[in-house]
Amino acid sequence: MDILIRPDAEGVAAAAADILADYARRGATLGLATGSTPLGAYQELIRLYEAGEVSFADSTAFLLDEYVGLAPEHEQSYHHTIRHEFTSHVDFDDSRVHSPDGTAADPWVAAQEYEQAIIDHGGIDVQLLGIGTNGHIAFNEPGAALNGPTHVDTLQPQTIADNSRFFDRPEDVPIHVLTQGLGTIQRAGHLLLLATGEGKADAIAALAEGPLTTMCPASVLQSHPRATVIVDEAAASKLHHRDYHRFVEENKLPRKN
Ligand code: GLP
Repeated sequence: MDILIRPDAEGVAAAAADILADYARRGATLGLATGSTPLGAYQELIRLYEAGEVSFADSTAFLLDEYVGLAPEHEQSYHHTIRHEFTSHVDFDDSRVHSPDGTAADPWVAAQEYEQAIIDHGGIDVQLLGIGTNGHIAFNEPGAALNGPTHVDTLQPQTIADNSRFFDRPEDVPIHVLTQGLGTIQRAGHLLLLATGEGKADAIAALAEGPLTTMCPASVLQSHPRATVIVDEAAASKLHHRDYHRFVEENKLPRKN
């Protein structure tokens, strides 16, 4: 796992956008994430697009997750959010921006269909991820199967509380979600996890320096052959090996691909 430490959220956004833009230039399949953390990276990608430095015309996107029960046009559905925050501001073909169907009559069937759609497409080249304060990635809460497929999950009270800021009332946050599983995520070619702020410091320490355990779903990045974690100083503040991560980055042999 590569851990890149940047001074602030802007530095995290710029580093993430650089990596994602390289994939987009190759027409890669991007795994997109919602939440507030990736917004800076999306804004930077929009800026690069407007400057003529990147195009998404040949890319396909798969979202990580969706709330069960929210229609695509609902303001807080991830279907709507990703368009509002990112894809509608660049030249992404809207029909190639996929997300799990939160209003399907049978969410478990919708989960299987989404998993199959990713497989049929040939997989995801780079998967962008945030992290919950409890160590969740996508909506895989502690206890999720380490190699599970896209599935229906039930949110923890902590996640409902964290996400209630996007809704009028905490009771409006859906309890059930559709999410790529930890197995789905691990099959992506490159995992790119972003975190900023002191509130994520414990989760980042658990991800990088704790045991690989379903109690911290993000710790599956430890077993992925190509995982990049980009954090600001605040989110890195509880890493014991901060100096070593800086040393590794300063002395990195550049990859040829
Ligand atoms: C939600 C999303 C996750 C995201 C997490 C953290 O639960 N399903 O994909 O990583 O929130 O969000 P934020 O970046 O706003 O802290």
